[in-house]
Amino acid sequence: GGARPLQGKRVVVTAGGTREPLDPVRFLGNKSSGKQGVALAESAMAAGAEVIFIHAHMDIAPPLNAKLHSVDTALELRAATLSAAAGADVVIMAAAVADFRPSTISTGKIKKRDNVADPVIKLVRNPDILVEVVAHRAAQNQSQLIVGFAAETGDADHDAHSYAQAKLVRKGCDLLVVNEVGPGESGAEKVFGQDGNQVEILALDGASPVQAAGSKRQVADAVVRVIAERLGTS
Ligand code: C5P
Repeated sequence: GGARPLQGKRVVVTAGGTREPLDPVRFLGNKSSGKQGVALAESAMAAGAEVIFIHAHMDIAPPLNAKLHSVDTALELRAATLSAAAGADVVIMAAAVADFRPSTISTGKIKKRDNVADPVIKLVRNPDILVEVVAHRAAQNQSQLIVGFAAETGDADHDAHSYAQAKLVRKGCDLLVVNEVGPGESGAEKVFGQDGNQVEILALDGASPVQAAGSKRQVADAVVRVIAERLGTS
């Protein structure tokens, strides 16, 4: 293989954390920094790919030289991703997508004086974009490679690996990049916003898992290597 194994390939990368509005000034969000997604985009571009970078809220700047598309909510991310995926060789879903959104968005700011009792926020489920990308592939481009991400914790019943394996099968993506986060807040802090990462790359076809650790760029390079091998271009 050459130094640019993704030359001529179109790669969609999603990154950052969605924000689900409650009213004009408030939202439900998450701690995703966008760092792993930016590293993936940079690694794919270094390998010669043309990258479409679809990002929700991030703590850092998006990558230079990618085609950028900024979104706020899961529904916006879904529309942008399904549209970009239609012409892509590879889709990498590194975004932290809200599983639920407020069922209604107040047109005016929610005020204390309007709420005599403590207010209750009703949530509705967001679509699973990764599952939809997999479903669309069947009709459009059988050879498209789809990569998901998952942060997993183990518990008394099952370890993180077996939860991740079940998720891979449920979602139907080709590869699942798994962060094992420790129980509780302290483990999650090891992943969100940090520069280092440790992952296991699981394959739906049963190929041996690949371990990668180091900076988020080193992890991204490992993911890109596995992708290039799968495309037969490495
Ligand atoms: O279910 P979970 O959030 O752990 O799955 C993680 C993977 O699924 C990530 O690749 C994430 O981008 C994707 N996802 C999605 N749409 C959702 C929830 C997660 O595409 N609503």
